[in-house]
Amino acid sequence: MIFETHAHYDDEAFNGDRDELLQKMHDHGIGRIINVGASLKGVRDTAALTEKYSFVYGAVGIHPDEVGNLTEEDMKELRSLCGRKKIVAVGEIGLDYYWDKENHDIQKKWFVRQMDLAKETELPIIVHSRNAAKDTLDIMKAERADNLKGVIHCYSYSKEQAREYMNMGYYLGVGGVVTFKNGKKLKEVVEYAPLDYLLLETDAPYLAPEPYRGKRNCSLYLTYVAQTIAQIKGVSYETVVETTRENAEKLFKI
Ligand code: NI
Repeated sequence: MIFETHAHYDDEAFNGDRDELLQKMHDHGIGRIINVGASLKGVRDTAALTEKYSFVYGAVGIHPDEVGNLTEEDMKELRSLCGRKKIVAVGEIGLDYYWDKENHDIQKKWFVRQMDLAKETELPIIVHSRNAAKDTLDIMKAERADNLKGVIHCYSYSKEQAREYMNMGYYLGVGGVVTFKNGKKLKEVVEYAPLDYLLLETDAPYLAPEPYRGKRNCSLYLTYVAQTIAQIKGVSYETVVETTRENAEKLFKI
């Protein structure tokens, strides 16, 4: 069974058929799903989804685009949610200089603060990093993020940086981009990194793989991602599915 490590089923894109879709997952080989909160509303909705579905687990954290109005009071709420049994990670947290919605210093402050939360609660982190390669790695090194575990979600940087993250004990999240014609850089990373360091993820509703590129993404399409990884690495589809599942179970202690 496929372990989906990053989806946003709380997103309004699923308002019309969320239950119908989630009920289909098991019959189509999707064993477990981590729903990742990105805003305060998102983490509350994530917690509710974990209560409703036995196979849905949650990550709670505030995405760098959403940290502008965050307060210490909100951090208390996050910490309390981290105490729930099915909340298995702090995320997604990090830096986003692509959309660049918040001042960099503010993004950095809350990235560090949420890493502290992960340290306090002994949970792994799910890192979002876009167009912020150097600052992300610098901060994670300065904060001794190697003492935490985690995943660099939607990995989009170089092989050399991938090596640095793997040396720190981090996994690389691989999704739809690996199937894109212009996904050459990620294909090279996938070829280079041992399968023991890869996780399957969609980032649904975003980043649907070929042949659904541009459409609404969902965990059912992870078969295309796993097939592409299998081709790149010259291993069987089953090996990709089973190894990435074991990686996720180990990281999130499920
Ligand atoms: Ni995401």
